[in-house]
Amino acid sequence: MPSSSPVQRITDYANRADPYPVYAGLRHTPVVRDEETGIFLVTTYWAVRELLHDPRISSDARNLAPGANPLLASDTEESTLPPSFIRLDPPDHDRLRRLAMRPFGPPHSPRRIHDMRGELSRIVTGLVDGLAGRGEFDVVDDFAYPFPVTVICRLLGVPKEDEPRFRGLVDAVVAGLSPAEDAAEQRRSVRRSRLELGQYLAGLIEEHQRHPGDDMLSQLATDEGPEGRLSLVELISTAVLLLIAGHETTVNLITNGMLTLLRHPEELRRLREDPGTAPGLVEELLRYEPPVHVLPQRTTLAEIELAGTVIPKGAAVWLLLASANRDAERFADPDRFDPARPDNQHLGFGFGVHACFGAPLARLEAQTALSELVRRLENPRLAEDPPPYRPSPVLRGPRHLRVAFDGLA
Ligand code: HEM
Repeated sequence: MPSSSPVQRITDYANRADPYPVYAGLRHTPVVRDEETGIFLVTTYWAVRELLHDPRISSDARNLAPGANPLLASDTEESTLPPSFIRLDPPDHDRLRRLAMRPFGPPHSPRRIHDMRGELSRIVTGLVDGLAGRGEFDVVDDFAYPFPVTVICRLLGVPKEDEPRFRGLVDAVVAGLSPAEDAAEQRRSVRRSRLELGQYLAGLIEEHQRHPGDDMLSQLATDEGPEGRLSLVELISTAVLLLIAGHETTVNLITNGMLTLLRHPEELRRLREDPGTAPGLVEELLRYEPPVHVLPQRTTLAEIELAGTVIPKGAAVWLLLASANRDAERFADPDRFDPARPDNQHLGFGFGVHACFGAPLARLEAQTALSELVRRLENPRLAEDPPPYRPSPVLRGPRHLRVAFDGLA
């Protein structure tokens, strides 16, 4: 089949290493209907932002006609658990999100973030120390992949001795986000792992209720607020959501970050000399090479007119965050990587009611990881460019990133 329709161009693996020219072509029309699938693609900054705030657009998969969205064929949310709040609309969404937020609000917030800083640095130092004696490493497998899952283990209070089993289960569930050759077998294996993960979390929650620790899950399982408490299934489904939403996204941000820094040595030098530039750098990465390229699970609950196009009720809509981030109507010189960019209100974490719940943690993880890597690696350089990418056009990032170096500082 010729790679001609907009959806085919986006999903075509040949465009994975550099999808930006495809997006630039699509941005000539802010809302494009893909004739083959009937999906409406939204490509420009203001149009995407407007829809992210529009209550007539739903994130609930139950509003979507079966088969209306080819990218969701291997949706791993399907399980015995109720949908997590990323796939619910207000008001159900808002109640669950507010309850899940509580461990991060007062009186816990300042101490939790402070404690986390130290913990993140210790995990990163351990991972970098593990590279001693090597001349080359894979940023994905040796560093970025183990990092966020270890962080989530600490956040949820998974005992250290359970970490390998827990990580194995998370790996199996997260693998379901990528297309597989045998989709039916993948579905079965993901379902098995999700079930086992759910059972493990149920046991952990019971244990935390009996002996509460200082972790987020203990607080969620014991704190009684004005709106009550999350039920056991809501707790499990929220914990699974945090695991999935915070895993591959963070891996991609760190990996895209190293790749971009190695392609812009002057910025790498700047970060090494002044780690205080890390926050601006991470924001620009979230604009320039965001881990989430497309939000493919939105449905219109009513007819919506946007930028001269009428999107009918019940239509599947894809919001192209990565395209919106390169829109010259919003960002000057959008294809330039500029960590000093002022007013950088990118859409890398989405916007509106579903804006990323884990953004403060993700920012801290990426800032810590990238500053430590550039501080400690002597003369790092790319062993191959472009690297091989993962298949997904939604969660886009390298599968491997081989970097050569001369030693550790
Ligand atoms: C939502 C990106 C890390 C938890 C989102 C959304 C985006 C996003 C684009 C919006 C989804 C939508 O509108 O449908 C990212 C990126 C990350 C990251 C780029 C890393 C660089 C994390 C982490 C966690 C997390 C570390 C948790 C520990 C969530 C949750 C939601 C969400 C729970 C759903 C919020 C809601 O529906 O109200 N994220 N995320 N994310 N993210 Fe993140």
